[in-house]
Parts: sequence; structure tokens; C-alpha cells
Amino acid sequence: MSIQESVRIVPKGDIALIELDLVGEKVNKLSTPVMFRLQEIITEIAQGTYKAAVIISRKPSIFIAGADIEEIRSMKKVEDYKSAVNKAHAIFNLIEDMTIPVIAAVNGACMGGGCELILACDYRIATDETSTKIGLPEVKLGIIPGFGGCVRLPRTIGYQAALDIIVQGKAVDSRKAEKLGLVDKVVSSQILEEKALEMAREAATTGKRVKRFQPHGLMAVAMELAPARAFVIGKWKDGTKKQTGGHYPAPLKAIDVIEKTYGMGNREKALSIELDGFCEVAVTDVSKNLINVFYLMESVKKKTGVQGEVKARPVSSLAVLGAGTMGGGVAYVAADKGIDVRLKDINNQAIAIGLKHARDLWDKLVKKRKITSYEFQRKMAKVSGGLDYAGFGQLDVVIEAIVEDMNVKKKVLAETEKHVKKDCVIATNTSSLSVNEMAKAMANPSNFVGMHFFNPVHKMPLVEVIRGEKSSDEAVATIFELSKKMGKLPVVVKDGPGFLVNRILVPYLIEAAWLLEDGMSIETVDRRFKKEFGMPMGPYTLMDEIGIDVCIKVSKIFHESLGSRIMIPPTMKKLSQSGRLGKKNRKGFYLYDEKGKQLEIDTTVYADLGLPTPSDKLSADETIRRGIFPMINEAALSLIEERIVETPDEVDLAMITGTGFPPFRGGLLRYADTVGANAICDELEVLAGKYGERFKPCTPLKNMAKTDRRFY
Ligand code: NAI
Repeated sequence: MSIQESVRIVPKGDIALIELDLVGEKVNKLSTPVMFRLQEIITEIAQGTYKAAVIISRKPSIFIAGADIEEIRSMKKVEDYKSAVNKAHAIFNLIEDMTIPVIAAVNGACMGGGCELILACDYRIATDETSTKIGLPEVKLGIIPGFGGCVRLPRTIGYQAALDIIVQGKAVDSRKAEKLGLVDKVVSSQILEEKALEMAREAATTGKRVKRFQPHGLMAVAMELAPARAFVIGKWKDGTKKQTGGHYPAPLKAIDVIEKTYGMGNREKALSIELDGFCEVAVTDVSKNLINVFYLMESVKKKTGVQGEVKARPVSSLAVLGAGTMGGGVAYVAADKGIDVRLKDINNQAIAIGLKHARDLWDKLVKKRKITSYEFQRKMAKVSGGLDYAGFGQLDVVIEAIVEDMNVKKKVLAETEKHVKKDCVIATNTSSLSVNEMAKAMANPSNFVGMHFFNPVHKMPLVEVIRGEKSSDEAVATIFELSKKMGKLPVVVKDGPGFLVNRILVPYLIEAAWLLEDGMSIETVDRRFKKEFGMPMGPYTLMDEIGIDVCIKVSKIFHESLGSRIMIPPTMKKLSQSGRLGKKNRKGFYLYDEKGKQLEIDTTVYADLGLPTPSDKLSADETIRRGIFPMINEAALSLIEERIVETPDEVDLAMITGTGFPPFRGGLLRYADTVGANAICDELEVLAGKYGERFKPCTPLKNMAKTDRRFY
């Protein structure tokens, strides 16, 4: 890469236009060479006769994506971070201290280090493009803004608005940025350069400035006073502690730095407080894990789902069979991404409900001003419904989401195949049935794959693409690419009971039922997994969400195929007779209001199941090990012995995106590596001795323990 070309000065009369266009890269990022080049250029401009400077990007929808995460990832010691961050501080200070005004002209994403760079400039102008987003997402990587963002953003827009952006890792569009005072002007992208140069000429006469937040109105002024500030910051601390469960140190550290540096006159001191805070969180395992998770997600973009040069077929239209919970969701997501969708069901009412589901979701986006009414109309026009196969001959893909019944599915799939063109890929959204078995009903099984979405479809990012024995590479690649087009993260898995995620999750849910049997309370177990381990919700809440009947049905299927590892406790059998379905009939482990909001625990569960009052005798450690270690055992079998997926990365990605396994732990198998196969096997043996065979460590895990191997 020619760094000279990537960051260059283009003189525009007496204005220096600094163009950013990293050669050979899709995005601009602030790597060490780019930072040095920037320093070189700033120094050159400072020594010249320019009256002002404008920084602009030549990438179509990126200003600067941020610092180079690969560099952050490679750093291990505090000294490494210190030296890198100090250099960045020196360069941004140089920009801030130039005698001529510097204007940032922002089009496209301006994130992290990019946002910190524009904060060191005197003026900011941005385009009204939807791709223009300005923000500081650092906490999502377990770090805090370290190039001056914690100091300069509060200085520019006030501590309250800055907390909102920094602590939550948010980005704002240009209109919001203008309202907050983060940018001075918003223009259309066609005139960005012209207007930025105009601004520069004007600034050349008015001179440099450091924009400082000006509170407007009595209330705003009062909020700047120390007691009010202490109160607001205290609220943020409490809220953040509650939200992160103490598992994510970065957001709290960011609040701490903002609290200490807000209004501080001494820039060097403020930046050094920020630097210390940055180093403290950057060296943590949490940050390393979150950065790994970021890479896991990014890696999907480059994948095709198959080996070699197989091309996915383009998909511009598809049909969804079954307009129920899943079908309605799939139709919404596909149409939202511009795909023409035909929703077919056997009754009109289901179609009306499916269409309403999509309409309501878009309606919410209009209300939140995320899309315009015009876009709403265009999106709605993408979905149509019907009871017959009209138009199926032109479709690229059909996604089946009808009742979970092998015979019905086989019949419907065979019928569908007669109405579609030869190269139409047909996918099933089955959650538990064998894709290979279903394929037997097809005349052309090579065009058939599984496409397992998670509920709710518009929220859950994972799609398991199930490769059947007869699925062609092209069909797999097409569904993989389609999943990405729908904004999802696909993982290719082999056919097998529960595919990957449900297979690993079910032992955990069943163990929660065993824990009840052993005298544990719903409250304690849910709290331990949620608060102490960091799962997004406890296992009983999750069972209520999924539906207790569904959990029991799936457990039975798993017991038949996986044998003694899946032992259904008597509680679960009794649960199935107690009329408790979970959230859907507002009666499960918890009670629910009419809107489905979880209320208190239904303490009548214990008596219903014939259990004594819970004694909560088990320690938190044992509770957690009983839930999590069987998942690791099942994952080891799926990965190493059965090759359901090929890499530990895929297990971790799928568990994080499909179940919300705590990202700060890096994923199930990264977590397993921190505990060690040896320790896990020993503990599983102990648990097997105490509670039965279901805990027996599998051979691959025992082999790992013997040879002291890790998943990674
Ligand atoms: P649902 O009961 O909400 O919807 C099924 C729809 O299919 C109904 O509207 C029904 O009228 C329609 N239907 C039945 N036979 C049909 C046919 N011959 N042609 C067209 N439509 C027909 O079911 P849900 O929950 O949406 O599940 C659908 C599929 O998705 C099942 O295979 C299920 O295992 C799977 N799945 C469900 C998940 C969930 O959480 N609900 C998660 C992942 C997969």
C-alpha cells in the first residue's frame, strides 16, 4: 500500500484538502502507518502558507471506520497500549493546536478513532446520507475511547449526551449529530466538498476555535452544576452496573473517566486519565474475548458456506410456505432487504396475520423515524400473500415454515417442487426434523437444504444452513448468501438431532429441570445463570419463552437419538401434564400479564410438581457447572466426533448469536479453554458419580484432557 497516496494533500488555492483513501482497502482506518502519515502531512501543512485545512474521505460510504482493531488485538502489555495511544494523542493534539482552522468533512461511517479525529478539528460538516453515522462503539470491544474521545466528546456536546453515546457504544446520524452540536452543518453528499471548502474559507477569517458545549435554558445550566452532575453520573453508574451485571468493565470505566475529566482545563492531565482508564480495560480478558467475537462475526462476511469457487445463485424473489410465527418473520426480513416475497398458507387468516406482523414491524420503524412513509409503502409492496402456487414458476427460492410434522412436510415439499423452476432452491426451516429424511420426498434433493432461523426472526442473527447428504454446493452457497443478504449470520451445519445450537442447549435446559428436582429454586437458578454467569436470561425464563411443551417434545426426541446424555427428569414429565406452556398461555415457571410481560415466579409450580419447598443447598459454582459443562461435553462431541461443524469458531459464533451465550466469555469453547479440558472432565466425572451417567465426559473431551489440548 502506498501510504503517500492513501493520505494526501490536494491544494485548493490556500486551503489544504487532506484526502483519505487507503489504497487496497475497502475502508479507511487509523493504523499506525496512517497515523504517522497524517502527522507528516499536518506538519507539512503547518509549515506551509495554507489558511485552513479540510479532511475528507474518498471512500464512497466510509469516512474513517476506526482504529486498526488488528493492531489492538496484537497488543498484550500495558506499555504497548501506552505507546500507541500516546502517539495518537500527540497527532490529534497537533491537529487541535494548528494555527489554522481544520474542518472535518464527513460522509459515511465515522466511528471510534474517526470520531475522535473529527473532535480534534475546529469544525465539522457532514452529509445527510443514511450511511453517515458518527459514534464511539469502543465499549462493544471492551475498551473505552482512547484517542481523546472521553475528553473531547463531553467537552463538545455536554457530559449527558456524551455518556449516552460512549457508555452505550452508540452512533448517531448526521441530523442527530447536528442537534447535539457534534456537527456544525449537514449538507447533501454532492456538495460536501464545496461546502467544506466554503466553511474553511470562512473559518480562515474567523480563526480557530475549540467548540465547547453551551447549555441552553435554566435547567440545562443547572445540570452542569456539580451536585446535578454527580446525581446524573451516579444514575448512569447504577444503571450500567445493573445492565452489565458487572461483567463488562469498559462502560463503567468510561463513566469514571468522564466524571474525572469533565471540565478539566488541563488537556494533558485529562488525556492521561483517559489513557490509564483505557489501558486498564484493554488488557482484560473481556476485551480480548469481545474483540475475538467481533472477528468471528466479521469472518462470516468473507465466507461462502462451501469450499472452492462455487457461485451462489442470485435471489431476488422467494416464497415462504406457512405464514405463522416463523414464516411471517422470514417474510418480513426478506422483504425488508428488498426481496420480493410471496407468503403462502392454507388459510387466509394466517396470511393476514403474517402480513400484519410485517406491517407492524415497519410501522414501528416509521414511528422511530428509521424509515420514511415512502420506504414503508415500498417495503409493504414487496410482500404478497396467497393460497395457491401462482407465480412459483419464477421464484429463486422457497422457504418452508409449516407445521413440524415429517409427513406433512414431505407431502408439501414434493408438491411444491412440481410448481417451481428447475434451479429453484427449496429450504426447510425445520427445528428438529431430519433434512436427509425430508429430502427423500424430493425428486431433486440436490436443490434442497435446511435453513433454520431462530425466533424472533427479525431479532435473532443466526441461521443454521443445514447441508443434507444430497444438497449441492450451489444450493448451500445460495442459502448461505441469501442469509447474509437478509442481514443474518449463517453457519453451515450437518444434519443431526437439533443440528448444532439446540443440541447443545437442550442438555442445559434439562439440567435446569433436574436442579428443581434437587431442591433448587427457580429464582436462585435463573439468577445464577443470568447474573453470575452472564446468560441473557435464566433457563426457566428461556423455557417459558420457547414453550414448555416444545421443550418437552424436543427433549424426548433428543433422548431417543442421544441416549443417556439426555435424561428427562420426572419434574419435566409432570410439567407436561400441569397445563403450563410458558409465556404463550401466561402460565409457566413465571406468570405473565396480558401483554406477555413477565411477572413474578409462579410459586405453585413446586406443589404442582410434588416438590418440597426449595432449600437452595447447592453452591453457585456447582449450579453453574451442572448447566454449562454438559453443553461443553455436547459441543465436543458435535465438533470433534460428528463434525456437525468444522471449527470451534463456528460453535462459538452459533452459541453467541443463537442463544446469547455471554460474548464477554468469548463463546462456549473459549470459555471451556479457560477452564481447561482436564478440569472439565474431572468435574464431569464427579457430577456423574453424584447425579448419574448423563454427566459422563465424552471420549473426545477425555482425549483432549489426556493430551492437554485446547479447542483453540
Ligand atoms: P406456526 O404454527 O406458527 O405456523 C405454521 C403455519 O403453517 C400456519 O399458519 C399454518 O396454517 C401453515 N401451514 C400448515 N400447513 C401448510 C401447508 N400445507 N401449506 C402452507 N402453509 C401451511 O408454526 P411456527 O412456529 O411458525 O413453525 C413453523 C416451522 O418453523 C416448524 O417447522 C418449526 O419447527 C420451525 N421453527 C419454529 C421455531 C419457533 O420458535 N416457533 C423456531 C425455529 C424453527
